[in-house]
Amino acid sequence: MKSKFVLIFLILICFFNLSLSFRFTVTADPRDEQEDWIFALQQIKEKIGGIGEFHVTAGDQDPEDERYADFVSVFGESAIWCPVWGNHDIQNETNIIWLREFNKKSPLVVNKGPEGSENSTFSWDVDPVHFVVLNEQYNGSLDHGIYRADIVDELYDWLVDDLEKNKNPSVIVFGHAPAYPQHRHLNDSLNNDIPKRDRFWKLMNQHVEIYFCGHTHWYSAIQVGNEIVGQEYTYQIDAGAARWSHNNNNISTFLNVFVNEEKSEIQVHVWQSKQVMGEFEVVERLDIPFLQITSTKTPAGGDKYFIFAIVLFVIFIAIFLIVNFIFNKIKGNNLKVTPNNEYEIENLIEQEDELL
Ligand SMILES: *[C@@H]1O[C@H](CO)[C@@H](O)[C@H](O)[C@H]1NC(C)=O
Ligand SMILES: *[C@@H]1O[C@H](CO)[C@@H](O)[C@H](O)[C@H]1NC(C)=O
Ligand SMILES: *[C@@H]1O[C@H](CO)[C@@H](O)[C@H](O)[C@H]1NC(C)=O
Ligand SMILES: *[C@@H]1O[C@H](CO)[C@@H](O)[C@H](O)[C@H]1NC(C)=O
Ligand SMILES: *[C@@H]1O[C@H](CO)[C@@H](O)[C@H](O)[C@H]1NC(C)=O
Repeated sequence: MKSKFVLIFLILICFFNLSLSFRFTVTADPRDEQEDWIFALQQIKEKIGGIGEFHVTAGDQDPEDERYADFVSVFGESAIWCPVWGNHDIQNETNIIWLREFNKKSPLVVNKGPEGSENSTFSWDVDPVHFVVLNEQYNGSLDHGIYRADIVDELYDWLVDDLEKNKNPSVIVFGHAPAYPQHRHLNDSLNNDIPKRDRFWKLMNQHVEIYFCGHTHWYSAIQVGNEIVGQEYTYQIDAGAARWSHNNNNISTFLNVFVNEEKSEIQVHVWQSKQVMGEFEVVERLDIPFLQITSTKTPAGGDKYFIFAIVLFVIFIAIFLIVNFIFNKIKGNNLKVTPNNEYEIENLIEQEDELL
């Protein structure tokens, strides 16, 4: 009898972990380098077994219809792709219309952006993280109003409101242009307008663990603070480009991002290939703790998980007793259960670490 209870707890712990830890992948700026893009996607499949829950491309994935067709050819129709709007995506009316239509059907467009950007700025939740996608080409009324990226008042106000409503302990934001560009586009990113950039980054430091972007074609990860002291600062992670050609440093990059609820941290594995059509390797791992600044956030989440755990526990006991009862009826007292909820994310992390 004792061993059966141990088994219940093991299955419970397994299930609990699975439901609260997950991963997703990020690329940026493939543009029309189809062969390079497909190669990077195939490497995602080969090296880490797929995209995780969803795949975000942080802008400049034009022509959109072709890049999506490539994505589907590697991962299938059911895989979730999240194309962020970048400066090149708004240069062609066909791409703008395609992106709007695509997002109308996207399961990630849960909370819609401000008027005029309701199909290009949005947010959604995968516990314990709140995800936000920003369209930085939005000018306050039109989704493709500005070529030079900006966080205009309308977008900023929407973001403030969205982050205030959020109850999850962690927040990740995606946009196309860096706030603090490294290597390239040094005067042609969100720092186009320093007061607006500073206002945006202050908000990031109040709520957000990571701001993922692209635009420069050059991977970089930096932690930038502001006047808020005594806390961790937001990371800006530029995903580089999923291509070698015309990307300035000839390095193709993708990111594998684990959300580890148990450790309250986000683990980013950086995969790169420096040789055209050469195999990708893990070159860096960043462990980014949840900021956990707002004191009201954590208890709210905590309560929710506690109730969730109790409900799960009761369900498991019930299922166990029913299954046990049926089994005993059929087979006598000879129950054998193999827990098949193997915690594959943990294995994957270990495999990637060995490669580092
Ligand atoms: C716009 O994009 C579409 C779809 O990729 C393409 O067929 C068309 O030639 C492009 N138009 C211009 C002016 O670049
Ligand atoms: C966004 O999508 C909705 C339908 O889901 C549509 O009514 C609206 O006009 C779209 N807005 C823009 C700016 O594309
Ligand atoms: C956005 O751009 C459109 C087209 O250029 C323009 O008509 C509109 O007034 C702009 N909106 C704002 C708020 O600047
Ligand atoms: C970009 O900005 C930096 C610092 O703000 C300045 O030193 C540099 O001259 C600028 N470069 C260009 C090309 O405008
Ligand atoms: C990238 O590759 C091109 C052509 O293959 C070469 O001319 C250039 O020097 C390379 N750039 C770097 C930064 O290695």
